[in-house]
Amino acid sequence: MKNKKYYITTPIYYPSGNWHIGHCYTTVICDALARFHKMLGEDVFFLTGTDEHGQKIEKEAKKRGVTPIQFIDPLVAELKDMWRLLDISYDRFIRTTDKDHEECVKKIYQKLYDSGDIYKAEYSGYYCTPCESMWTEAQLVGGKCPDCGREVTLQKEESYFFRLSKYAPKILKLYKDNPEFLQPKSRVNEMVNNFLEAGLQDLCVSRTTVKWGVQLPFDKNHYAYVWIDALSNYISALGYLSEDDSLYKKYWPADLHMIGKEIVRFHAIIWPAILMALGEPVPKQVYGHGWLLIGGDKLSKSKQDAVKCELTDPYELVKRYGTDAVRYFLLREIPFGSDGEYTNERFLNRINADLANDLGNLVSRTQAMILQNFDGVPPRGKAEGVDGELIAMAEGLFGKVKDAVERLNAPDALSEIFAVISRANKYIDETTPWILAKDPGKKQRLGAVLYNLAETVRICAVMLKPFLTKAPALILKSFSCDENAGFESLKFGVLKEGAKIEKLPPVFPRVDVKKELAEVEKLVASLKKTETKTEMEENKKELITIDDFAKVEMRVGTVTACEPVKKSRLLHETVSIGGKNLSVLSGIAEHYTAEEMVGKRVIVVTNLPPREMKGILSEGMIICAQGPDGKLSVVAPEKDLPDGSLLS
Ligand code: ME8
Ligand code: MG
Repeated sequence: MKNKKYYITTPIYYPSGNWHIGHCYTTVICDALARFHKMLGEDVFFLTGTDEHGQKIEKEAKKRGVTPIQFIDPLVAELKDMWRLLDISYDRFIRTTDKDHEECVKKIYQKLYDSGDIYKAEYSGYYCTPCESMWTEAQLVGGKCPDCGREVTLQKEESYFFRLSKYAPKILKLYKDNPEFLQPKSRVNEMVNNFLEAGLQDLCVSRTTVKWGVQLPFDKNHYAYVWIDALSNYISALGYLSEDDSLYKKYWPADLHMIGKEIVRFHAIIWPAILMALGEPVPKQVYGHGWLLIGGDKLSKSKQDAVKCELTDPYELVKRYGTDAVRYFLLREIPFGSDGEYTNERFLNRINADLANDLGNLVSRTQAMILQNFDGVPPRGKAEGVDGELIAMAEGLFGKVKDAVERLNAPDALSEIFAVISRANKYIDETTPWILAKDPGKKQRLGAVLYNLAETVRICAVMLKPFLTKAPALILKSFSCDENAGFESLKFGVLKEGAKIEKLPPVFPRVDVKKELAEVEKLVASLKKTETKTEMEENKKELITIDDFAKVEMRVGTVTACEPVKKSRLLHETVSIGGKNLSVLSGIAEHYTAEEMVGKRVIVVTNLPPREMKGILSEGMIICAQGPDGKLSVVAPEKDLPDGSLLS
């Protein structure tokens, strides 16, 4: 029998580089859903990627004096790194600069042009570059972008238009006939009230001024509008209109486009209209999830600077607390479909309460008691007293979790699993195994109790696998179970008598929230400083007076000693500047070894306030120049001046 297919997508991300925990939300949810469906035995295709064309990227690259692709490549590498840290199990990572994607976009435009759904006309409208969206004057709110409230610019040019207006009634009918198409329900009302009811305007789908994009096959002066380019990724990734469209035939229509609520308009109006115009089926479902908020505002690239002390950097979060903790927080804490506030404290409390206390304690108590009293897993014994309730809950868990996953509701799915974990902890209090252990006559009952606990732990570990990617496998292995065990192993009574148990170190160590919050605050402050530095570099074109320059004291020196600073990009140099030795930290460990630095002549800024990093005081800054490839080179005086010589 052919397996059921499941095609799930995230949006493709703008390469921003300022990746934050909000960005991880959509993709972690999709990953959990994809993993669940894989474990159901379905044939899953999980797509994610990057949205690389358009005005925003063109501008950012220009500002830095690099080509768009030079600007994008490192950011895409960073994003992929982030997905690796979070164990994102995508089947394809599509980039809109991929050749096959660009070819597909051309074919889509040609097809729409041939069928008359794209035509040429004069365009005048207001453009919001951050949102890459166009507005009529009437749609502006106080002269600003109605979506994000930022400045818009008036643009006039001859353009190609897509006959979006023609599809308004069809989209309304789609919502009416398929209440599942757009979820949650509230998004349907937004679309109908704010856009569809008033009728749709035809959409400008080409640019002549923005050349960082896909050139239109029927008019070389025009480039594809970035949103049409971007939306097409969902089908180009499957080989739509290519020589080999077998994936398209197999997986389209998508089962689910998971997206943030701010881009519902593009996915629930423009995208189905394009597909209808192409004569292709529309996706089965678009889900517009809520946002992670900080202080009531959407956590975003631009607002990150305003954030006082919340740690929003996914790399740092994973480094400190582990992949499972970050995934768990995202999947459990935000009520699905709504917004949720993000704070360090909420994060730590959630991890402590559920992972360290409930799950961690259950695992360690169960293992410790078995190891103290038995040589491996004890025999199952006869169920009595409260056993029945625990066993029934454990056996009924799969149905409940599956039901929640069908509603896409990860928080519900996890709270079902943790209800069983809590029940098992309560079962320990009820059955008091430590008292049973004192009475040799109760050994059999003790065995049965511990068996029930071990079996409940095992079932919960299997159920947690789509959501957490590290701990469940460790737990299963520690009970001598197959870490690849799937849903077929969910019946109570699978654990074999005598199976060896290996005691795990605490899977989720408890954190002292107060102490940790103080640490995190310090960390955020130090991360901020480095960010401000990069921003200053970006704005270096600003002119300064000669007096400003004269304020900087720079001296010639020689590096007399140097050693790398552990777990950082820093080197710690001792620099002689004539009679005095300065302790200097510099972020050049990727460009020079400590040995290479010793003996080098350098130029040091000597009147900066001393600053502590990684517990070491830095009393100056070594001047470096950066090459186009990003490599740093230490700058030295051209003649052999004595140490301490002043630059002027
Ligand atoms: O919109 N909370 O890309 P993007 C929750 N390229 N989710 C958040 C969030 C937050 N604070 N901040 C961002 C784009 N996201 C387009 C998509 S698809 C054809 C083109 C989510 O990089 C956001 O909602 O701005 C979206 O789902 C994802 O991050 C990528 O956003
Ligand atoms: Mg966005």
